[in-house]
Amino acid sequence: MYSLFLILTTFLISPTLSSKIRKIPDDLMIGCATSAYQVEGAWNEDGKGENIWDRMTHSQPERVVDGSNADIACDSYHKIDEDVALIKNVGFQHYRFSISWPRILPYGFPIVINKKGIQYYNKLIDKLIDNGITPVVTIYHFDLPQILQDLGGWTNSLVSKWFEDYARVIFDAFGDRVKLWITINEPYTICEMGYGNGTYAPGIPSSGVGDYLCARNILLAHARVYHLYKNEFVTSQKGRIGLTIQCAWKEPGSNSSIDKNAAYRDSQFEWGLYTHPIYSKRGDFPEAVKKAVKLRSLAEGFAESRLPTLSSEEVAFIRGTYDFFGLNHYFTQYVINAQPSPIGLPSYDKDVSVVRYIDPNWTKGSKIFYMNVPWGLRKILKYIKQNYGDPEVFILENGVATVEQFNNYDAIKFYYDQLNALLDAVEIDKVKVKLYTMWSLMDNFEFVGGYTYKFGLYHVDFEDPNRNRTPKLSFHFFKDLLKSRVLQL
Ligand code: NOJ
Repeated sequence: MYSLFLILTTFLISPTLSSKIRKIPDDLMIGCATSAYQVEGAWNEDGKGENIWDRMTHSQPERVVDGSNADIACDSYHKIDEDVALIKNVGFQHYRFSISWPRILPYGFPIVINKKGIQYYNKLIDKLIDNGITPVVTIYHFDLPQILQDLGGWTNSLVSKWFEDYARVIFDAFGDRVKLWITINEPYTICEMGYGNGTYAPGIPSSGVGDYLCARNILLAHARVYHLYKNEFVTSQKGRIGLTIQCAWKEPGSNSSIDKNAAYRDSQFEWGLYTHPIYSKRGDFPEAVKKAVKLRSLAEGFAESRLPTLSSEEVAFIRGTYDFFGLNHYFTQYVINAQPSPIGLPSYDKDVSVVRYIDPNWTKGSKIFYMNVPWGLRKILKYIKQNYGDPEVFILENGVATVEQFNNYDAIKFYYDQLNALLDAVEIDKVKVKLYTMWSLMDNFEFVGGYTYKFGLYHVDFEDPNRNRTPKLSFHFFKDLLKSRVLQL
Protein backbone atom coordinates (compact mmCIF):
# COMPACT_ATOMS: atom_id res chain seq x y z
CA MET A 1 0.00 0.00 0.00
CA TYR A 2 2.79 2.34 0.94
CA SER A 3 4.56 2.03 -2.44
CA LEU A 4 1.22 2.51 -4.14
CA PHE A 5 0.91 5.71 -2.12
CA LEU A 6 4.31 6.88 -3.36
CA ILE A 7 3.51 6.07 -6.97
CA LEU A 8 0.15 7.80 -6.81
CA THR A 9 1.46 10.87 -5.09
CA THR A 10 4.48 11.09 -7.39
CA PHE A 11 2.39 10.99 -10.53
CA LEU A 12 -0.74 12.72 -9.41
CA ILE A 13 0.35 15.38 -7.00
CA SER A 14 3.94 16.31 -7.23
CA PRO A 15 3.82 17.80 -10.75
CA THR A 16 1.80 20.62 -9.23
CA LEU A 17 4.18 21.20 -6.34
CA SER A 18 7.73 22.29 -5.96
CA SER A 19 9.70 19.29 -4.74
CA LYS A 20 11.22 20.84 -1.64
CA ILE A 21 12.55 18.44 0.96
CA ARG A 22 12.63 19.83 4.48
CA LYS A 23 13.64 18.34 7.78
CA ILE A 24 11.15 18.47 10.64
CA PRO A 25 12.95 20.02 13.63
CA ASP A 26 13.60 17.51 16.44
CA ASP A 27 11.77 19.69 18.94
CA LEU A 28 8.57 19.88 16.88
CA MET A 29 6.19 17.20 18.16
CA ILE A 30 3.49 15.92 15.85
CA GLY A 31 0.23 14.28 16.84
CA CYS A 32 -3.49 14.22 16.16
CA ALA A 33 -6.65 15.40 17.90
CA THR A 34 -10.26 14.43 18.61
CA SER A 35 -12.89 15.45 21.16
CA ALA A 36 -15.13 13.44 23.47
CA TYR A 37 -18.56 14.18 22.02
CA GLN A 38 -17.32 13.79 18.45
CA VAL A 39 -15.90 10.28 18.85
CA GLU A 40 -16.90 8.56 22.10
CA GLY A 41 -20.57 7.67 21.63
CA ALA A 42 -21.98 5.77 24.66
CA TRP A 43 -24.01 8.90 25.27
CA ASN A 44 -25.97 7.47 28.20
CA GLU A 45 -23.84 4.53 29.22
CA ASP A 46 -22.19 3.77 32.54
CA GLY A 47 -23.70 6.74 34.34
CA LYS A 48 -22.86 9.54 31.90
CA GLY A 49 -25.14 12.58 32.22
CA GLU A 50 -26.81 14.45 29.37
CA ASN A 51 -24.85 17.23 27.67
CA ILE A 52 -26.06 20.20 25.63
CA TRP A 53 -25.38 18.42 22.33
CA ASP A 54 -27.30 15.33 23.41
CA ARG A 55 -30.22 17.61 24.20
CA MET A 56 -30.05 19.63 21.00
CA THR A 57 -29.56 16.71 18.61
CA HIS A 58 -32.32 14.68 20.26
CA SER A 59 -34.89 17.46 20.55
CA GLN A 60 -34.09 19.38 17.34
CA PRO A 61 -32.42 16.98 14.90
CA GLU A 62 -33.12 19.40 12.04
CA ARG A 63 -30.34 21.63 13.36
CA VAL A 64 -27.76 19.09 12.14
CA VAL A 65 -27.48 18.91 8.34
CA ASP A 66 -28.02 15.15 8.14
CA GLY A 67 -30.29 14.97 11.20
CA SER A 68 -27.73 12.81 12.97
CA ASN A 69 -26.34 12.80 16.50
CA ALA A 70 -23.31 11.40 18.31
CA ASP A 71 -25.12 8.77 20.38
CA ILE A 72 -22.71 6.19 18.95
CA ALA A 73 -20.36 8.38 16.85
CA CYS A 74 -17.10 6.43 16.33
CA ASP A 75 -17.87 4.27 19.36
CA SER A 76 -14.46 5.15 20.77
CA TYR A 77 -15.77 4.58 24.29
CA HIS A 78 -15.60 0.87 23.51
CA LYS A 79 -12.49 0.94 21.35
CA ILE A 80 -9.59 2.16 23.44
CA ASP A 81 -7.19 -0.58 22.34
CA GLU A 82 -8.08 -0.26 18.69
CA ASP A 83 -7.85 3.54 18.67
CA VAL A 84 -4.51 3.66 20.45
CA ALA A 85 -3.21 1.13 17.92
CA LEU A 86 -4.40 3.43 15.12
CA ILE A 87 -2.53 6.37 16.63
CA LYS A 88 0.59 4.31 17.14
CA ASN A 89 0.43 2.93 13.63
CA VAL A 90 0.74 6.44 12.19
CA GLY A 91 3.68 7.12 14.49
CA PHE A 92 2.11 10.10 16.25
CA GLN A 93 3.93 11.30 19.34
CA HIS A 94 0.97 13.06 20.97
CA TYR A 95 -2.77 12.46 21.16
CA ARG A 96 -5.05 15.34 22.05
CA PHE A 97 -8.48 14.26 23.31
CA SER A 98 -11.06 15.82 25.61
CA ILE A 99 -12.81 14.72 28.76
CA SER A 100 -16.58 14.73 28.85
CA TRP A 101 -17.67 16.81 31.84
CA PRO A 102 -21.00 14.92 32.28
CA ARG A 103 -19.25 11.54 31.97
CA ILE A 104 -17.24 12.49 35.06
CA LEU A 105 -19.88 14.61 36.81
CA PRO A 106 -23.33 13.49 35.64
CA TYR A 107 -24.96 16.28 37.67
CA GLY A 108 -22.44 18.92 36.60
CA PHE A 109 -21.25 19.45 40.17
CA PRO A 110 -18.92 17.12 42.11
CA ILE A 111 -21.79 15.82 44.24
CA VAL A 112 -21.50 12.54 42.33
CA ILE A 113 -18.24 11.47 40.72
CA ASN A 114 -18.88 8.76 38.15
CA LYS A 115 -16.30 6.05 38.81
CA LYS A 116 -16.91 4.40 35.45
CA GLY A 117 -16.11 7.67 33.72
CA ILE A 118 -12.86 8.00 35.66
CA GLN A 119 -12.01 4.37 34.78
CA TYR A 120 -12.56 4.99 31.09
CA TYR A 121 -10.12 7.91 30.92
CA ASN A 122 -7.65 6.14 33.20
CA LYS A 123 -7.58 3.23 30.82
CA LEU A 124 -7.16 5.50 27.79
CA ILE A 125 -4.36 7.51 29.40
CA ASP A 126 -2.52 4.40 30.61
CA LYS A 127 -2.79 2.75 27.23
CA LEU A 128 -1.43 5.84 25.47
CA ILE A 129 1.51 6.10 27.85
CA ASP A 130 2.26 2.36 27.56
CA ASN A 131 2.50 2.91 23.81
CA GLY A 132 4.81 5.90 24.08
CA ILE A 133 2.11 8.44 23.14
CA THR A 134 1.87 11.64 25.20
CA PRO A 135 -1.69 12.56 26.24
CA VAL A 136 -2.75 16.18 25.69
CA VAL A 137 -6.01 16.66 27.53
CA THR A 138 -8.70 19.25 26.85
CA ILE A 139 -10.85 19.76 29.92
CA TYR A 140 -13.77 21.35 28.02
CA HIS A 141 -14.64 20.84 24.35
CA PHE A 142 -18.23 22.05 23.73
CA ASP A 143 -20.15 19.46 25.81
CA LEU A 144 -21.54 21.25 28.86
CA PRO A 145 -23.72 19.18 31.21
CA GLN A 146 -27.33 20.05 30.31
CA ILE A 147 -28.11 20.61 33.97
CA LEU A 148 -25.64 23.50 34.06
CA GLN A 149 -27.11 24.95 30.89
CA ASP A 150 -30.50 24.88 32.59
CA LEU A 151 -28.88 27.22 35.11
CA GLY A 152 -27.68 29.58 32.37
CA GLY A 153 -24.54 27.74 31.25
CA TRP A 154 -21.66 29.95 30.12
CA THR A 155 -23.75 33.09 30.64
CA ASN A 156 -24.11 32.52 34.38
CA SER A 157 -21.22 34.21 36.19
CA LEU A 158 -21.05 31.25 38.60
CA VAL A 159 -19.87 28.99 35.77
CA SER A 160 -16.22 29.81 36.44
CA LYS A 161 -16.59 28.31 39.92
CA TRP A 162 -18.42 25.25 38.54
CA PHE A 163 -15.62 24.79 36.02
CA GLU A 164 -12.99 25.07 38.74
CA ASP A 165 -14.74 22.41 40.85
CA TYR A 166 -14.85 20.08 37.83
CA ALA A 167 -11.19 20.74 36.95
CA ARG A 168 -10.10 19.90 40.50
CA VAL A 169 -11.63 16.44 40.08
CA ILE A 170 -9.80 16.06 36.77
CA PHE A 171 -6.38 17.12 38.10
CA ASP A 172 -6.83 14.86 41.14
CA ALA A 173 -7.73 11.88 39.00
CA PHE A 174 -5.38 12.19 36.03
CA GLY A 175 -2.72 14.80 36.81
CA ASP A 176 -0.17 12.22 37.95
CA ARG A 177 0.12 11.12 34.29
CA VAL A 178 -1.20 14.01 32.19
CA LYS A 179 1.33 16.82 31.81
CA LEU A 180 -0.24 18.91 29.08
CA TRP A 181 -3.59 20.54 29.83
CA ILE A 182 -5.89 22.61 27.65
CA THR A 183 -8.57 24.24 29.80
CA ILE A 184 -11.02 25.26 27.07
CA ASN A 185 -11.30 24.64 23.34
CA GLU A 186 -12.27 27.55 21.06
CA PRO A 187 -14.01 30.16 23.24
CA TYR A 188 -15.26 31.97 20.13
CA THR A 189 -17.13 28.88 18.93
CA ILE A 190 -18.62 28.30 22.37
CA CYS A 191 -19.79 31.89 22.81
CA GLU A 192 -20.56 33.08 19.30
CA MET A 193 -22.14 29.92 17.95
CA GLY A 194 -23.70 28.82 21.25
CA TYR A 195 -25.08 32.13 22.56
CA GLY A 196 -24.59 34.58 19.64
CA ASN A 197 -25.97 33.21 16.37
CA GLY A 198 -27.20 30.15 18.25
CA THR A 199 -26.29 27.59 15.59
CA TYR A 200 -24.37 25.40 18.07
CA ALA A 201 -25.71 23.96 21.30
CA PRO A 202 -27.24 25.25 23.51
CA GLY A 203 -28.69 27.13 20.52
CA ILE A 204 -29.53 30.42 22.24
CA PRO A 205 -29.53 33.29 19.76
CA SER A 206 -28.74 36.37 21.84
CA SER A 207 -26.23 38.01 19.55
CA GLY A 208 -24.53 41.07 20.94
CA VAL A 209 -25.50 40.23 24.52
CA GLY A 210 -25.25 36.55 25.57
CA ASP A 211 -22.11 35.99 23.51
CA TYR A 212 -20.31 38.79 25.40
CA LEU A 213 -21.45 37.52 28.80
CA CYS A 214 -20.11 34.13 27.77
CA ALA A 215 -16.77 35.65 26.69
CA ARG A 216 -16.27 37.27 30.08
CA ASN A 217 -17.18 34.11 31.98
CA ILE A 218 -15.02 31.88 29.79
CA LEU A 219 -11.98 34.07 30.44
CA LEU A 220 -12.58 33.96 34.18
CA ALA A 221 -13.23 30.20 34.09
CA HIS A 222 -9.99 29.58 32.22
CA ALA A 223 -8.05 31.84 34.59
CA ARG A 224 -9.50 30.17 37.70
CA VAL A 225 -8.44 26.76 36.48
CA TYR A 226 -5.00 28.03 35.50
CA HIS A 227 -4.53 29.47 39.00
CA LEU A 228 -5.95 26.35 40.61
CA TYR A 229 -3.38 24.25 38.79
CA LYS A 230 -0.51 26.61 39.64
CA ASN A 231 -1.55 26.95 43.30
CA GLU A 232 -2.48 23.39 44.16
CA PHE A 233 -1.12 20.95 41.61
CA VAL A 234 1.88 22.04 39.62
CA THR A 235 4.44 21.48 42.38
CA SER A 236 3.62 17.81 42.58
CA GLN A 237 2.36 17.18 39.04
CA LYS A 238 4.77 19.38 37.07
CA GLY A 239 2.60 19.86 33.99
CA ARG A 240 1.87 22.78 31.69
CA ILE A 241 -1.45 24.46 31.08
CA GLY A 242 -3.06 26.82 28.57
CA LEU A 243 -6.13 27.04 26.36
CA THR A 244 -6.66 26.89 22.62
CA ILE A 245 -8.16 29.73 20.59
CA GLN A 246 -9.37 29.59 17.01
CA CYS A 247 -7.55 32.36 15.17
CA ALA A 248 -8.42 32.95 11.53
CA TRP A 249 -6.10 35.21 9.56
CA LYS A 250 -7.93 38.40 8.49
CA GLU A 251 -6.36 39.94 5.42
CA PRO A 252 -7.47 43.50 4.49
CA GLY A 253 -9.38 43.40 1.21
CA SER A 254 -7.71 46.63 0.06
CA ASN A 255 -4.88 48.93 1.03
CA SER A 256 -7.21 51.62 2.33
CA SER A 257 -6.89 52.40 6.01
CA ILE A 258 -10.61 51.86 6.47
CA ASP A 259 -10.33 48.26 5.23
CA LYS A 260 -7.12 47.67 7.18
CA ASN A 261 -8.98 48.83 10.29
CA ALA A 262 -11.91 46.60 9.40
CA ALA A 263 -9.67 43.52 9.12
CA TYR A 264 -8.02 44.36 12.42
CA ARG A 265 -11.38 45.01 14.12
CA ASP A 266 -12.74 41.70 12.83
CA SER A 267 -9.74 39.83 14.22
CA GLN A 268 -10.15 41.54 17.58
CA PHE A 269 -13.84 40.67 17.81
CA GLU A 270 -13.27 37.07 16.75
CA TRP A 271 -10.18 36.14 18.74
CA GLY A 272 -8.68 39.30 20.24
CA LEU A 273 -11.58 39.20 22.70
CA TYR A 274 -9.82 36.17 24.21
CA THR A 275 -6.16 36.54 23.22
CA HIS A 276 -5.80 40.19 24.27
CA PRO A 277 -6.89 39.68 27.90
CA ILE A 278 -4.61 36.65 28.27
CA TYR A 279 -1.49 37.31 26.17
CA SER A 280 -1.12 41.07 25.71
CA LYS A 281 0.96 43.12 28.15
CA ARG A 282 -1.97 45.32 29.11
CA GLY A 283 -4.64 42.64 29.32
CA ASP A 284 -8.38 43.44 29.20
CA PHE A 285 -10.68 43.33 26.17
CA PRO A 286 -9.22 45.00 23.05
CA GLU A 287 -9.86 48.74 22.70
CA ALA A 288 -11.21 48.28 19.16
CA VAL A 289 -13.96 46.01 20.50
CA LYS A 290 -14.73 48.14 23.54
CA LYS A 291 -15.06 51.23 21.36
CA ALA A 292 -17.26 49.64 18.66
CA VAL A 293 -19.68 47.97 21.10
CA LYS A 294 -20.00 51.07 23.27
CA LEU A 295 -20.76 53.39 20.36
CA ARG A 296 -23.41 51.13 18.99
CA SER A 297 -24.95 50.28 22.39
CA LEU A 298 -25.41 53.96 23.24
CA ALA A 299 -26.93 54.64 19.83
CA GLU A 300 -29.35 51.77 20.47
CA GLY A 301 -30.50 53.38 23.70
CA PHE A 302 -28.59 51.22 26.20
CA ALA A 303 -27.34 53.15 29.24
CA GLU A 304 -23.92 51.55 28.89
CA SER A 305 -21.99 49.20 26.65
CA ARG A 306 -23.40 45.70 26.11
CA LEU A 307 -19.84 44.44 26.47
CA PRO A 308 -19.38 43.64 30.15
CA THR A 309 -16.37 45.15 31.87
CA LEU A 310 -13.48 43.41 33.57
CA SER A 311 -12.39 45.04 36.83
CA SER A 312 -8.70 45.83 37.25
CA GLU A 313 -8.43 42.81 39.63
CA GLU A 314 -10.02 40.60 36.99
CA VAL A 315 -7.74 41.97 34.27
CA ALA A 316 -4.72 41.08 36.43
CA PHE A 317 -6.20 37.67 37.30
CA ILE A 318 -6.64 36.76 33.61
CA ARG A 319 -3.46 38.29 32.18
CA GLY A 320 -0.57 35.87 31.68
CA THR A 321 -2.54 32.69 32.43
CA TYR A 322 -0.69 30.47 29.97
CA ASP A 323 2.36 28.27 29.60
CA PHE A 324 2.04 28.23 25.78
CA PHE A 325 -0.17 29.72 23.06
CA GLY A 326 -2.70 27.11 21.89
CA LEU A 327 -3.82 27.82 18.32
CA ASN A 328 -6.58 26.23 16.25
CA HIS A 329 -6.26 27.41 12.67
CA TYR A 330 -8.70 26.72 9.83
CA PHE A 331 -9.48 29.94 7.99
CA THR A 332 -8.10 32.90 6.13
CA GLN A 333 -10.54 35.59 5.03
CA TYR A 334 -10.37 38.88 3.19
CA VAL A 335 -12.15 41.62 5.10
CA ILE A 336 -13.50 45.02 4.05
CA ASN A 337 -15.46 47.63 5.96
CA ALA A 338 -19.27 47.40 5.86
CA GLN A 339 -21.66 50.32 5.53
CA PRO A 340 -23.12 51.05 8.99
CA SER A 341 -26.36 49.09 9.34
CA PRO A 342 -29.52 50.73 10.70
CA ILE A 343 -29.94 50.76 14.45
CA GLY A 344 -32.12 47.86 15.58
CA LEU A 345 -31.73 44.79 17.72
CA PRO A 346 -28.30 44.26 19.30
CA SER A 347 -26.07 42.12 17.12
CA TYR A 348 -22.48 40.94 17.13
CA ASP A 349 -22.38 41.25 13.32
CA LYS A 350 -23.53 44.85 13.45
CA ASP A 351 -21.00 45.59 16.18
CA VAL A 352 -18.19 44.21 14.01
CA SER A 353 -19.52 45.78 10.81
CA VAL A 354 -17.38 44.12 8.15
CA VAL A 355 -17.80 42.06 4.98
CA ARG A 356 -15.77 38.86 4.73
CA TYR A 357 -14.99 36.88 1.59
CA ILE A 358 -12.56 34.33 0.25
CA ASP A 359 -10.79 33.73 -3.03
CA PRO A 360 -12.89 31.07 -4.84
CA ASN A 361 -9.66 29.34 -5.92
CA TRP A 362 -9.09 28.28 -2.32
CA THR A 363 -12.06 25.92 -2.40
CA LYS A 364 -11.36 24.27 -5.74
CA GLY A 365 -11.05 20.49 -5.94
CA SER A 366 -12.70 18.00 -3.63
CA LYS A 367 -12.26 20.04 -0.49
CA ILE A 368 -15.41 21.01 1.34
CA PHE A 369 -13.93 22.69 4.36
CA TYR A 370 -10.96 24.58 3.02
CA MET A 371 -10.92 28.30 3.37
CA ASN A 372 -7.31 28.35 4.25
CA VAL A 373 -4.09 29.29 2.56
CA PRO A 374 -0.55 28.59 3.74
CA TRP A 375 0.36 32.28 3.94
CA GLY A 376 -2.53 32.80 6.37
CA LEU A 377 -1.02 30.31 8.80
CA ARG A 378 2.39 31.92 8.49
CA LYS A 379 0.95 35.40 9.08
CA ILE A 380 -1.03 34.41 12.16
CA LEU A 381 2.04 32.71 13.64
CA LYS A 382 4.09 35.82 13.04
CA TYR A 383 1.37 38.00 14.55
CA ILE A 384 1.37 35.88 17.72
CA LYS A 385 5.14 36.13 18.02
CA GLN A 386 5.20 39.89 17.51
CA ASN A 387 2.20 40.84 19.62
CA TYR A 388 2.13 38.34 22.44
CA GLY A 389 5.69 38.18 23.69
CA ASP A 390 7.03 35.38 21.48
CA PRO A 391 5.40 32.47 23.35
CA GLU A 392 5.83 28.79 22.56
CA VAL A 393 3.02 27.94 20.17
CA PHE A 394 1.11 24.66 20.09
CA ILE A 395 -0.98 24.30 16.93
CA LEU A 396 -3.66 22.11 18.44
CA GLU A 397 -5.96 21.89 15.44
CA ASN A 398 -5.42 22.32 11.72
CA GLY A 399 -7.16 20.21 9.12
CA VAL A 400 -9.39 19.85 6.10
CA ALA A 401 -12.50 17.90 5.15
CA THR A 402 -12.58 16.38 1.68
CA VAL A 403 -15.32 14.90 -0.46
CA GLU A 404 -12.95 12.12 -1.51
CA GLN A 405 -13.25 9.50 1.20
CA PHE A 406 -10.17 7.33 0.67
CA ASN A 407 -7.80 8.72 -1.96
CA ASN A 408 -7.83 12.15 -0.42
CA TYR A 409 -5.04 13.80 -2.41
CA ASP A 410 -6.42 17.22 -1.57
CA ALA A 411 -5.90 16.58 2.11
CA ILE A 412 -2.29 15.57 1.47
CA LYS A 413 -1.68 18.71 -0.52
CA PHE A 414 -3.32 20.73 2.24
CA TYR A 415 -1.10 19.26 4.97
CA TYR A 416 2.01 19.54 2.82
CA ASP A 417 1.32 23.24 2.19
CA GLN A 418 0.39 23.99 5.79
CA LEU A 419 3.46 22.24 7.18
CA ASN A 420 5.68 24.10 4.73
CA ALA A 421 4.19 27.37 5.98
CA LEU A 422 4.73 26.21 9.54
CA LEU A 423 8.40 25.46 8.77
CA ASP A 424 8.78 28.88 7.11
CA ALA A 425 7.42 30.44 10.29
CA VAL A 426 9.84 28.42 12.42
CA GLU A 427 12.95 28.74 10.26
CA ILE A 428 12.56 32.19 8.76
CA ASP A 429 10.34 34.08 11.25
CA LYS A 430 11.70 32.20 14.29
CA VAL A 431 8.28 31.44 15.73
CA LYS A 432 8.59 28.83 18.48
CA VAL A 433 6.10 26.22 17.28
CA LYS A 434 6.63 23.10 19.41
CA LEU A 435 3.55 20.96 18.87
CA TYR A 436 1.22 20.29 15.93
CA THR A 437 -1.83 18.06 16.41
CA MET A 438 -3.74 17.65 13.15
CA TRP A 439 -7.53 17.41 13.06
CA SER A 440 -8.45 14.61 13.06
CA LEU A 441 -7.42 11.04 13.76
CA MET A 442 -10.63 9.74 12.19
CA ASP A 443 -13.84 10.91 10.57
CA ASN A 444 -16.25 11.89 13.32
CA PHE A 445 -19.38 13.84 14.25
CA GLU A 446 -18.82 17.39 13.03
CA PHE A 447 -21.48 19.12 15.16
CA VAL A 448 -23.95 20.90 12.82
CA GLY A 449 -22.14 19.25 9.88
CA GLY A 450 -23.13 15.80 11.24
CA TYR A 451 -21.25 13.02 9.46
CA THR A 452 -20.95 14.92 6.17
CA TYR A 453 -17.54 16.46 6.92
CA LYS A 454 -14.68 13.99 6.62
CA PHE A 455 -11.61 15.27 8.43
CA GLY A 456 -10.09 11.90 9.34
CA LEU A 457 -6.84 10.17 8.52
CA TYR A 458 -8.94 7.07 8.98
CA HIS A 459 -12.27 6.65 7.26
CA VAL A 460 -15.00 5.45 9.62
CA ASP A 461 -17.92 3.45 8.27
CA PHE A 462 -20.88 4.93 10.13
CA GLU A 463 -23.30 2.45 8.52
CA ASP A 464 -21.43 -0.45 10.04
CA PRO A 465 -22.29 -1.32 13.67
CA ASN A 466 -18.57 -1.97 14.26
CA ARG A 467 -17.64 1.47 13.00
CA ASN A 468 -14.78 0.01 10.96
CA ARG A 469 -11.77 2.27 10.53
CA THR A 470 -9.81 2.26 7.24
CA PRO A 471 -6.64 4.28 6.58
CA LYS A 472 -6.91 6.92 3.86
CA LEU A 473 -4.11 8.08 1.59
CA SER A 474 -3.36 10.94 4.00
CA PHE A 475 -2.57 8.31 6.65
CA HIS A 476 0.42 7.24 4.53
CA PHE A 477 1.54 10.83 4.15
CA PHE A 478 1.72 11.30 7.93
CA LYS A 479 3.20 7.86 8.53
CA ASP A 480 6.01 8.60 6.12
CA LEU A 481 6.51 12.08 7.55
CA LEU A 482 6.82 10.75 11.09
CA LYS A 483 9.15 7.93 10.11
CA SER A 484 11.51 10.03 8.01
CA ARG A 485 11.04 13.34 9.89
CA VAL A 486 11.25 14.88 6.45
CA LEU A 487 8.52 16.87 4.69
CA GLN A 488 8.33 15.88 1.05
CA LEU A 489 5.95 14.68 -1.60
C1 NOJ B 1 -12.69 23.08 15.65
C2 NOJ B 1 -13.33 22.28 16.73
O1 NOJ B 1 -12.56 22.36 17.88
C3 NOJ B 1 -13.56 20.83 16.34
O2 NOJ B 1 -14.40 20.28 17.29
C4 NOJ B 1 -14.12 20.74 14.94
O3 NOJ B 1 -14.42 19.43 14.58
C5 NOJ B 1 -13.11 21.34 13.99
N1 NOJ B 1 -12.95 22.73 14.31
C6 NOJ B 1 -13.50 21.24 12.52
O4 NOJ B 1 -14.59 22.04 12.27
